[in-house]
Amino acid sequence: RTQPGYRIASIPGDGIGPEVISAGITVLKKLATVLGSFNLQFNHFAWSSDYYKKHGHYIPDGGLEDLKKYDAIFFGAVGAPDVPDHISLWSLRLALVQPLQHYANVRPTRVLRGITPPLTSTAASPSNLDWVIIRENTEGEYAGQGGRTHIGKPWEVATEVAIFTRHGVERLMRFAFETARKRRRKKLCVVTKSNAQRSGLVLWDEVAKLVAQDFPDVEWDKMLVDAMTTRMVLHPETLDTIVATNLHADILSDLAASLAGSIGIAPTSNLDPTRANPSMFEPIHGSAFDLVGKGTANPVGTFWTAAEMLRWLGEEKAADWLMVCIENVTEKGVRTPDLGGVAETEEVTGALCEEIERVC
Ligand code: NAI
Ligand code: MG
Repeated sequence: RTQPGYRIASIPGDGIGPEVISAGITVLKKLATVLGSFNLQFNHFAWSSDYYKKHGHYIPDGGLEDLKKYDAIFFGAVGAPDVPDHISLWSLRLALVQPLQHYANVRPTRVLRGITPPLTSTAASPSNLDWVIIRENTEGEYAGQGGRTHIGKPWEVATEVAIFTRHGVERLMRFAFETARKRRRKKLCVVTKSNAQRSGLVLWDEVAKLVAQDFPDVEWDKMLVDAMTTRMVLHPETLDTIVATNLHADILSDLAASLAGSIGIAPTSNLDPTRANPSMFEPIHGSAFDLVGKGTANPVGTFWTAAEMLRWLGEEKAADWLMVCIENVTEKGVRTPDLGGVAETEEVTGALCEEIERVC
């Protein structure tokens, strides 16, 4: 019997990206060895802000075509103090997810075993917070249309145009309803701001209503994004699957992660649901300049990301085992300072590897 093997392109990037991706690869290799049912082969791509400062670009000619030969992309973060954030983000992360048509950005959040959430509304019962946020990932407010004229003059003009296409909204909305249907509670909350944003988000509302007709088993409602922040904080138990635009979901998902304990625990999948292109998996957080080199970056977001990647590759059982082991470690109290612990990245990684050996 030949084992399935997966080729993974790893792009650690900047800041704490290399620290958490290296921890993630250690754990994935351990899991593959202990389970013995699949192989993983990692190839590293040095695309980062240092690389940019040397070569003038983040992605070399033909780089995107190269990536298409892999089964998945394991990404850290991009952003350095001496490169403007809009240059780094647009030249690497967005330069991957947009052409690879990773239109569904999936962000599960829940309170992992042993973690005390910061607010009493969730602390009453960790199961109050068990969500998956579906973020539109290729258009909307991050479509890249806009410009500046009369730069530096008192009459300078800058535009930032949000683009919503029926095609783009509908495919994402279908993905969101399908996600909700697969979850136990089968509930979807469609987030908009269609009172103030009266074109694109009215289209968003209309498309939601049309697509909903194909999912009579999914109970859905609508929320304006400002009111949504209140509901997430005060009535977390009323939410399950959430769908929102590129910008809105970007903000809501950082809020969701911290409500569950820390931005350091949350994963992200950038999916091309058609599977024409490899999908990309990354922790939700950025390069966290303030933590670089301290050895205290929380690797749990990357471990959970690794589990999501295995699930997408079809290794459901391995993904489930990995989640059990991650939560055994959080429950034991081996945690980084963002979760109130004293452990370093390496200790958490070591504890997880031991747990994998013990349990799997
Ligand atoms: P950030 O997510 O890097 O950091 C925000 C706060 O969360 C910081 O206090 C940081 O210490 C903390 N934090 C983040 N990850 C953590 C972890 N694993 N463990 C413990 N604490 C953690 O966001 P920020 O500061 O807004 O952005 C820093 C840089 O990262 C910027 O250049 C930004 O453009 C970039 N960025 C890149 C992303 C990506 O590549 N996907 C996503 C978000 C930001
Ligand atoms: Mg973000």
